Amino acid sequence: MIITNLLTGIAGALTNNLTEILATLAFICATVYIWLQYQYSYWRRQRLPYIEPTLIFGNLKGIINSECDPCTWFQYLYNHEKAKEHPAVGIYIFNKPSLLLRDLELIKTVMIKDFNYFSNRHSASDPHSDSLGSDNLFFAKNPIWKEIRVKLTPVFTSGKMKQMFPLIEGIAQEYDKYLCSQKVDAKTNSTVIEVKEPNALYTTDVIAITAYGLQANSLSDPNGIFRRNGKKIFTFNWLRAMEFKAFFFLPILVKIFRFKVFSTDTTIFLRDTINRTMEERMRTGTTRNDLIDILIKFRREAEEEAKEGKKPFILERDALAAQAAIFFSAGFETSSATMSFTMYEMARNPDVQQRLREEVREAFLSNDGKVTYEMIMGLKYMDNVVKEVLRHYPPLPFLDRVCTPKAGEEGYSLKAFNMDFNVPANMPIYIPQQAIQMDPQHFKDPESFNPDRFLPENKHENNMNAYMPFGIGPHNCIGERFAMLQTKLGLLYFYRNHYVTACDKTPKKLQLDPRAVVIQSLGGIHLNIVRDPLF
Ligand code: HEM
Ligand SMILES: *[C@@H]1O[C@H](CO)[C@@H](O)[C@H](O)[C@H]1NC(C)=O
Ligand SMILES: *[C@@H]1O[C@H](CO)[C@@H](O)[C@H](O)[C@H]1NC(C)=O
Repeated sequence: MIITNLLTGIAGALTNNLTEILATLAFICATVYIWLQYQYSYWRRQRLPYIEPTLIFGNLKGIINSECDPCTWFQYLYNHEKAKEHPAVGIYIFNKPSLLLRDLELIKTVMIKDFNYFSNRHSASDPHSDSLGSDNLFFAKNPIWKEIRVKLTPVFTSGKMKQMFPLIEGIAQEYDKYLCSQKVDAKTNSTVIEVKEPNALYTTDVIAITAYGLQANSLSDPNGIFRRNGKKIFTFNWLRAMEFKAFFFLPILVKIFRFKVFSTDTTIFLRDTINRTMEERMRTGTTRNDLIDILIKFRREAEEEAKEGKKPFILERDALAAQAAIFFSAGFETSSATMSFTMYEMARNPDVQQRLREEVREAFLSNDGKVTYEMIMGLKYMDNVVKEVLRHYPPLPFLDRVCTPKAGEEGYSLKAFNMDFNVPANMPIYIPQQAIQMDPQHFKDPESFNPDRFLPENKHENNMNAYMPFGIGPHNCIGERFAMLQTKLGLLYFYRNHYVTACDKTPKKLQLDPRAVVIQSLGGIHLNIVRDPLF
């Protein structure tokens, strides 16, 4: 009797509690739902054109759940019914109201003329757990960004490129040797390979020698420590994909989950490597006019400032190693991707490849087989081929900034663009440059692969103001010259003894990996490479 009573009592209490718990949960859900609905009414309340968001992900659903690669997704937003004809359109990055810019005049104004109002990227890394990831030129915020940018700019002058040229050319020669050492079928003189990996071995060795002063020898040891660390950064498994999406779209998650651009292992490796090289250079007093000289100068200036009682940030944090780390990561992946996309397009467009090879052959012959900086600068057709590749496949397919109004100002007015709206502080801005580069309003027959569209006589049907694979304005790619040089040298030596054709595994249209924010082809790029020395 007592026991039964007790049991009934407990059961009663439980049901009561259960009802309470359920009621509380329902209340929380309803509140969150109403709060989200309110957040998602921002653009309607502002009376600005906007694209209808979905719950939770806002206008990023296809990217976040990896249904869609970033190029296709930004094209979808850029070409949306609600966006067409408007200079800018409201979107939601999760629940955060953001602006997608479409009009070229507006983009130029934001990125160049009124840069001071948009002087930071929205993307960010975690300063507490990932110092190399957050103190580097790409992710640093003002005023630190400005200071680093001024100091690093001298690394990339054309004078410095000329000085580094022999180092890069040495690696390009090794790349040619590596290719020539691959076994080919005796009947056809050809073999099928995945080209992205050898291209990455080449660019990894180029960055190691120019930015770290070291022979990484990835081409002779594909499992070398530089390549292993580089590969880890850009291998988009599920977790890595989430981390990158968080850096670019939801930096708040980066802090919560301690996402890292550079893992603890990679941080230790990159930091120790640059530290040892710098110590060695300072001890022996050797100079080579490369990044390391600049970093050492940077450090000495900071030490002077410290003596004057200032507190330069680079002595307290890993700022020097962070710059070398971003050159390493931004430097090898984007250029090897560009080389690989070029080879894919050459397999699809044999007539273009033939012209390219003819140019390479003439350049070698008219220079007695000697490769020089001036010769590379003279490869006009190759320049247009690489430009056309970067129009189709810019490794970073969108640009981002946040609004940074001056103290005391409310925001940035879009009145000049016929929009009655003040962009408030910290609002993210996205520029879908790949979608812009594929817009028939700016480029004639945009899906076709046509290097000649960059010839001056074709300017009237191809708008160069709409071309921005390296970004634009003061925050643009600092490594553009370097990137073009290493890409062209790599291609020159590739074509010295080989060309490519399509194989069974070469798709008619390249599929991009939906997990990769920095674009990659899905499943690599498999091509038939044919051994055929030019002379
Ligand atoms: C084909 C190769 C490359 C492409 C397409 C590319 C593209 C880009 C783009 C689109 C940006 C953002 C620009 C903006 O927001 O306006 C950027 C920034 C940057 N890139 Fe590159 N990049 C390439 C190669 C390189 C190389 C080789 C290096 C270094 C050696 C490098 C270092 C950087 C750095 C440090 C930034 C941040 C600059 C700043 O915010 O001040 N990139 N790149
Ligand atoms: C393969 O290469 C050799 C040596 O360069 C050449 O003699 C031969 O004609 C080539 N065969 C084919 C099928 O191209
Ligand atoms: C290298 O690391 C040591 C130990 O952390 C440090 O004392 C030294 O200042 C570093 N050298 C450079 C050039 O950063």
